[in-house]
Order: sequence, then structure tokens, then C-alpha cells
Amino acid sequence: MLPMGTISRGTRLLGQHAAALECCSVLCRSMSSSSLRVPPPACMLRPLEVPFRYLFGPGPSNVPPRVLAAGGRPIVGHMHPETYQIMNDIKEGIRYAFQTTNPMTLAMSGSGHTAMECAVFNTVEPGESVLVAINGVWGERVAEIAERIGANVHTLVKAPGGYFTNEEIEKAISKHRPVLFFLTHGESSAGLAHPVDGIGDICRKYNSLFLVDTVASLGAAPIFMDKQKIDILYTGSQKALNAPPGTAPISFNERACQKMFNRKTKPVSYLLDMTHLSNYWGNDGKPARDYHHTGPVSGFFCLRESLAILAEKGLEDSWRHHREVAEYLWKGLEDLGLKLFIKEKDLRLPSVTTIAIPDRYEWRQLLTYIMKHHQMEMTGGLGPSIGMVMRVGLMGYNCSKFNADKALAALEDALKNCKKHKA
Ligand SMILES: Cc1ncc(COP(=O)(O)O)c(C=O)c1O
Repeated sequence: MLPMGTISRGTRLLGQHAAALECCSVLCRSMSSSSLRVPPPACMLRPLEVPFRYLFGPGPSNVPPRVLAAGGRPIVGHMHPETYQIMNDIKEGIRYAFQTTNPMTLAMSGSGHTAMECAVFNTVEPGESVLVAINGVWGERVAEIAERIGANVHTLVKAPGGYFTNEEIEKAISKHRPVLFFLTHGESSAGLAHPVDGIGDICRKYNSLFLVDTVASLGAAPIFMDKQKIDILYTGSQKALNAPPGTAPISFNERACQKMFNRKTKPVSYLLDMTHLSNYWGNDGKPARDYHHTGPVSGFFCLRESLAILAEKGLEDSWRHHREVAEYLWKGLEDLGLKLFIKEKDLRLPSVTTIAIPDRYEWRQLLTYIMKHHQMEMTGGLGPSIGMVMRVGLMGYNCSKFNADKALAALEDALKNCKKHKA
């Protein structure tokens, strides 16, 4: 017998379906006398359905009620003074989260990739040399983005989980003399937190800009943009920051501004051109902000609240909390007999933990089981780490020992109930 909830939900859905079909057939009949040749799609006549999921993968993560409520506020115009005030608040919040005083700080309208492209498109011109550290999927992406604009791309490559010593980085920079060196701080495809100290000095010695991706690490692992001499830093809204996907904080220091505002050619993208964006965000010293594009106003409300939550909690507290919960999770995973993919504790990313695929299990089967029986998202690897790891992310609002226990219980259940291959 089906459980009661299933029957009533099924009956409701059948009822909705019948109503939608009826509505469609009425519309189709009336269309014979209409100029429309494409009828309204049946799916659009059904109500929106969004299930609840525990988002314990590498992102997006669940969004706290306060941030969701901010996104539900009435829209105001993207060029109204109140919106500009909220954008100004966002800039302050980003400066705090990045630990920078850079005036050229803003949030992109778009996901983390938008910030990635903005950084490369604005600071690199065709034919210029770029050096990209690849130890997972994100370096691969940046190398491709730089190639697409005709840069002369050089790579430093390690297998997922590997990291680069400052000596290796200096050797490659001194050889290729790049205008830009890219490094991922939180390599979410491998679960690695890359050391950053000292690299900014190397970049300055060779007149290269230092670009760092903190999409998966901001708020969860320490980063100090100014102190670590990072020239361009970006992140995404949807991970430890806990806002919905769709906005991406970025900051450029004076060195980066010098390079990007003294170009011979225009950047390939109008939308991502920092000459326009700096005015749109009120960063260019001009008295008026002009129309450039219509920013995601609700997304800005959410981002503002997520940055406010981080400011209220305090960065150091947030870093400490992520580390503490991550250590609790790591111990629990080892107690289940699982092996962590990153061996050195200090190189593990606190926001996204990578588990080596357990012997004789099919990782897809484990993850499908967890989704089906626990409504919980965990994921496999990405790019070069596919087939090597499973990823568990506990970030921001999701970062608690309670949730770590939930994730551990789901994994334990999956290990018990999924079939093992023959040895
Ligand atoms: C380290 C890192 N960089 C960049 C991205 C890309 O961000 P988005 O998917 O928001 O474009 C991600 C997304 O998972 C990421 O983890």
C-alpha cells in the first residue's frame, strides 16, 4: 500500500494535470480563430514545483530564510538611489570579505564564470602571455577563456589534488613572463585549499598580475587580498556566502586598474567591460552613473544580506567554524572507513571535502541512492577529478555538526545498501 502522503500528492498532481489538459484543449479550440500558431505549453499551465533538497554538494548551498526573504522584497529600479545605496553597501561588504580597501570593487551580474571572464577579458590583450596553474577544472576553464581571446597561454599542470610550490611558480613566471598568473584558492573539483603566501611578491617581481579564484573558499578559508598582494580576486554568491547563484563579487587593485584602463584594444565583451562597469558601480569618480545594463536587483538584495550575515558573524569566526565542522566531518568519514582524497590536513578545503571513491563501489550508484533516500545532493568529481572523488560540501548556513551527522548517516546507509563489485 502506498503511504498516505503519496496518495494525496499523486491525486493532487493528477487533478492539476487534468485541469491543465482541459485548459489546453479550450485554448486549442479558441486558437482556431486566433493568429497564434503555437499554443501555450501545458507545463506553463501547471504550478511551479520545487522540491526540498539538502544541498550538501560543492554548491549551490541552501540559502538561509533571511536571504530568501530579501530576494522576495518588492523590486525597485536598478538606477534608483535606494538600489545605488544597496550596491554601495555590497561594495563595503565585499571589501570586508576580501580584506581589501580597493575602490574598484563590485559584483558582477552573473555567476562565478562571469567574474572569471571579466578578470581575463579586461586585463589581457590578444597576443599577451598568460600563465595558468591547473590542478583541477578551474584552471582548465581560465586557460580556455584566455585562449579564446587570443592570449598566448602557458600552463603549469598537476593532477587533481596536487599543488604548486612557490619555486615552481617562480620558475614558470620567470620563463613565460605572463601579464597575468591565475591560481585557484579553493579547488572545489579536488577539495584543495592552495597556499597563497609569497606568490603576490613573485608576481610583482616579474610585473605579472596575480589573479585568484575564491568561488569555493570565500568565507570558509582565510584569504587576505591586500596583505597577500592579490591583484584581482573574485568569488561567487552561492557557496559559503549563501546567496542564490547569479552575482559574483570581484575586486581589482591599483596595479590591475593601471593595466586594464590603459589598453590598446577594447575588451571583447561590452557587458563585461570594466570601463562601463566601474561607472555603473560608481567607482570611476564621475558624478553620475549611466545606464549600462539592468542589474539583478533581487540578486543584489540577497547578496547584500549574505554579506551582512558574514559581517555580523565575523570573518575569523566563520573561518574557525568551517574548519571545526570540516574536521568533525573528516573524522566521521574516516570512522566509516572512507579515505580522504587530500592527504595533508592543512591543504584540505574546509568548504568542500573530497572522498576517494571507496573500493568496489560505483560512485554514481552511491550518490543516486543518497539523493533518492535522503533527498541529499552530494556529487562526483568534475573535469579531471571525475571518477576519482565524491564531494561533500558544508558551507555557510549548511555548515554545522548536525548537518555533518546527516551527511555521514546518508553515506553510511548508502555504503550498506549499494552493491559492491566483486573483488
Ligand atoms: C572554484 C570555482 N571557481 C569557479 C566556479 C564557477 O562558478 P559558477 O558555477 O558560479 O559560474 C566554481 C563553481 O563551482 C568553483 O567552485
